[in-house]
Amino acid sequence: MSELQYQRPRGFRDILPADSAIWKNLEDLVRGVVQQYGYREIRLPMMEKTGLFERSIGEETDIVEKEMFTVQSRENKESLSLRPEFTAPFVRAVVENHLLEKKPFWKLFYLGPAFRYEKPQKGRYRQFHQVGMEAVGAEDPLLDVELMEAFMDLLDRLQLSGLELQASSIGCLDCRSSFRNDLLRYLESVEPQLCEDCRRRKERNVFRVLDCKNEECRTALADAPVIYEHLCEECDDHWKKVVSGLENAAIPFTKNERLGRGFDYYTKTIFEVVDPELGAQNAVGGGGRYDRLFENIGKEAAPAAGCALGLERLLLSMKERKNEDVLRAESGPDLFLVWIDRTCQKQLFQIASDLRDQDFSVELNFEDRSLKGQMRAADHSGAPYVGILGPDELNAREITMKEMESGSEEQISWDKIGEKLS
Ligand code: HAM
Repeated sequence: MSELQYQRPRGFRDILPADSAIWKNLEDLVRGVVQQYGYREIRLPMMEKTGLFERSIGEETDIVEKEMFTVQSRENKESLSLRPEFTAPFVRAVVENHLLEKKPFWKLFYLGPAFRYEKPQKGRYRQFHQVGMEAVGAEDPLLDVELMEAFMDLLDRLQLSGLELQASSIGCLDCRSSFRNDLLRYLESVEPQLCEDCRRRKERNVFRVLDCKNEECRTALADAPVIYEHLCEECDDHWKKVVSGLENAAIPFTKNERLGRGFDYYTKTIFEVVDPELGAQNAVGGGGRYDRLFENIGKEAAPAAGCALGLERLLLSMKERKNEDVLRAESGPDLFLVWIDRTCQKQLFQIASDLRDQDFSVELNFEDRSLKGQMRAADHSGAPYVGILGPDELNAREITMKEMESGSEEQISWDKIGEKLS
């Protein structure tokens, strides 16, 4: 067979029917859980002005520096980017639609594709899917705890065990300005070991050095100071309340003082859930508080917190533990209709239409196949019943209904099929 000339672009994937049934079940389950925590859906555009991401995620971050799919608009040469994440678009949408003027507290969730121009590998794609929860309007540390609870609750329902919640605090701007000097002093001492990006970041946005994935940088940073000694009273109090909230809710977590989240917008709480079974790309999701982002993008300040999970990584974690069956339940049609003689097909078409009007899902054979071939197709479809129509049944206005599991057959009149199926 000749090689296909136009294959899908690198890092992009097709989700075929067998998998898309699993995806749908995962999405339904996720929606159910986040709605239990009071989050309502927001649907955001796939593209935003590039400046939105530069301003919120940070110009010195890997995402903004290297990973955005950016195009120039033809009308006004404006730069637009496919969303690499949803938090900035969420904030933009809340501000632009004046949601906070309608009520001061919102909990919204989103589910959809995001795009990052990263080097593809297992668990890392250029188009991937996130589900995320974002809450705006409350400073309460218990809100941060509830986000982590919802996250872990979801993992529980997917029967995913052995994943680790890591949490930390990165304080506020005040804490960071005091931490900055300490960190800079340390970085000066290890400068020769740092990569070129980090040497530049050290001058422009020193905290981003902490996110560097380069092995040598990570080794050089092993003894770097941590922010805890620099937390101001308010941030320290917030962090202590998060810790006691997690303990009271019996949510196991590890305090990871080296947690780097790769975004400029976080303040106070940050967290990540990692799956040790996943290899290099082991973060299933993460999030934190971003109390300064609203004023950075809009005019009014509003405290906010959120998190996002990667659906591909969740599915990989399930695959690793062989528990995809939790999501399998692929549903076939209620009824598959086959004919003994093609002259019966017209009537079957009518029967199918009538049953769909009664809300049943019905499939009909269109191919030139023997009855045996049609029965095989019916079996593959997963339908619990097959309706067989031949010339004799046609005259009697009846159909043979075969129950696939038991193999039992009975003749029933056309107007009783719906009753039988329900
Ligand atoms: P993030 O940690 O960059 O956070 O992404 C969240 C999750 O998306 C990751 O843990 C991972 O599962 C998945 N993910 C990210 N990049 C890829 C990729 N290239 N391929 C496959 N999966 C990927 C955020 O995006 C923040 N906006 C989270 C947040 C919400 N913080 C506050 N609110």
